[in-house]
Amino acid sequence: MALTPFLDPLPIPRVLKPKERTKGVTYYEVKMEEFFHKFHSELPESKVWGYEAQLPGPTIEAEQGECVHVKWINNLPDEHFLPIDNSIHGAGKDMPQVRTVVHLHGAEVEPDSDGYPDAWYTRDFAKCGPRFAHKIYKYPNNQRPATLWYHDHALGITRLNVYAGLAGMYIIRNEEERALNLPSGRYEIPLVIQDKTFNEDGSLFYPTTVNVPNPPPDFPNPSITPGFTGDTIVVNGKAWPYLEVEQRKYRFRILNGSNQRFYRLSLDSGQQFIQIGSDGGLLQRPVRLDEIVIAPSERMDVVIDFTNQRVGTNIVMTNTARIPFDFGAPPDPQTTGLVMQFRVIERNGEDTSSVPQFLSNIKRYNECDASRIRDISFDVTTDNFNRLLFLLSNHEYMDGITENPIVGELEIWRLINQGIAFHPIHVHQIQFQVLDRTPFDTDAYNLTGQLLFTGEPELPPANERGWKDTIQAPPGFVTRIAMRFGPYTGRYVYHCHILEHEDHDMMRPLEVLPKKCVPVNPDGCKNCSEAFLCLNE
Ligand code: C2O
Ligand code: CU
Ligand code: CU
Repeated sequence: MALTPFLDPLPIPRVLKPKERTKGVTYYEVKMEEFFHKFHSELPESKVWGYEAQLPGPTIEAEQGECVHVKWINNLPDEHFLPIDNSIHGAGKDMPQVRTVVHLHGAEVEPDSDGYPDAWYTRDFAKCGPRFAHKIYKYPNNQRPATLWYHDHALGITRLNVYAGLAGMYIIRNEEERALNLPSGRYEIPLVIQDKTFNEDGSLFYPTTVNVPNPPPDFPNPSITPGFTGDTIVVNGKAWPYLEVEQRKYRFRILNGSNQRFYRLSLDSGQQFIQIGSDGGLLQRPVRLDEIVIAPSERMDVVIDFTNQRVGTNIVMTNTARIPFDFGAPPDPQTTGLVMQFRVIERNGEDTSSVPQFLSNIKRYNECDASRIRDISFDVTTDNFNRLLFLLSNHEYMDGITENPIVGELEIWRLINQGIAFHPIHVHQIQFQVLDRTPFDTDAYNLTGQLLFTGEPELPPANERGWKDTIQAPPGFVTRIAMRFGPYTGRYVYHCHILEHEDHDMMRPLEVLPKKCVPVNPDGCKNCSEAFLCLNE
């Protein structure tokens, strides 16, 4: 179906109004509903699910330190409109079809409010998963100002619930950031980039099957695939929209809310992006980039300066990322190679905003402070039905806890990608720092389990030297991240954010333990990984 690009204006999700503000608590109620949404003026309406009957959901704005409570209300029908695969963990025939639980991605919250995959619930909270605890989630917002997002996280159907539309932005602000005088108000715009495929009647298409060699007779129908990519790029719920921009600076908070698709974004005017922030808030200094590669769930906070563009100029944001990233088919320059268009119009008043050379202080972790190093390998195997199965350290989601960091302690995780595809790895509760990426001999690793490095560690590029909660772990590299777990103890998860991988079965539980550990090796840094013995184990 050929849709005319740049026909519809970019919608800007409205900011959600609280239900009440009392005794230091801002209280919201958010309903999940089924409704019909127009993705493009040449398309019939599509059945979708969204928060407050909006796609993407309304933006929630919070001040740093503001205590926000949200009751996420499931008002969805009992039947899913997308194909459920009953063969994957937690999605069996014995489960209610429509389960939801909301995760605020990138937020530092207690486990009971984190949206644990097994903490799902059905309409009216009639049925609840084993880890369901509260109807109202608490967000203390005690973290740096940042672009977060909320999305569904129900076990075994996250890919379908998010694709159906259950996602929205959540922005934390503070005085210090406001004082920087970055473009704001009408000139600060969220861009939620997703990909969809539509049937002729306008309904959302999601694949129901996958080809595998020698499928067994009981091959699941519908079946999950190793990753969905749509043929239509949608920004803030519109396919290939346009935005009128004045001759001045704009701040765009870009989120990749797609299931599997990575984007390599650039501007056909040859202009650069000025990246000012990453997942966990502002960078130390702005970084100028000709292109940005954004993986599912990453956020890139960028300024684009249209000051010197002539009125009437049209600038297209393009995408050149191959799918699967970065070895599959290149995007079609007429369709998936296009994201959106900017139309330059005259400036309405002075542009008094600025992009200071110093944005915020980022204190880098010292890796000698790490008390533990963990190796997480990315394994590719097949399941009972001969389908591709991606695992973390050869464990399935349901296997016991292997990652049990101690609260307050610094850990280094070595993400060992011995496969052929990039995986964006996300860790809940904390923001981490990227230390480096080192190439290694994947054949040797796959044969013997030995890590043989084949080159020097590569330091992260400047735009990855801030705080991150999702990191691109490229094939053939060991990506090292450092994080201090806390302030909360309890059960969380970490996983690949390609949603089909997360559902099957590239997700693991993670238990942050209270402090009860004794040092057994006073040598410190040299043998960091053995420096402590944890009495909890
Ligand atoms: Cu954005 Cu655990 O996910
Ligand atoms: Cu998350
Ligand atoms: Cu993955």
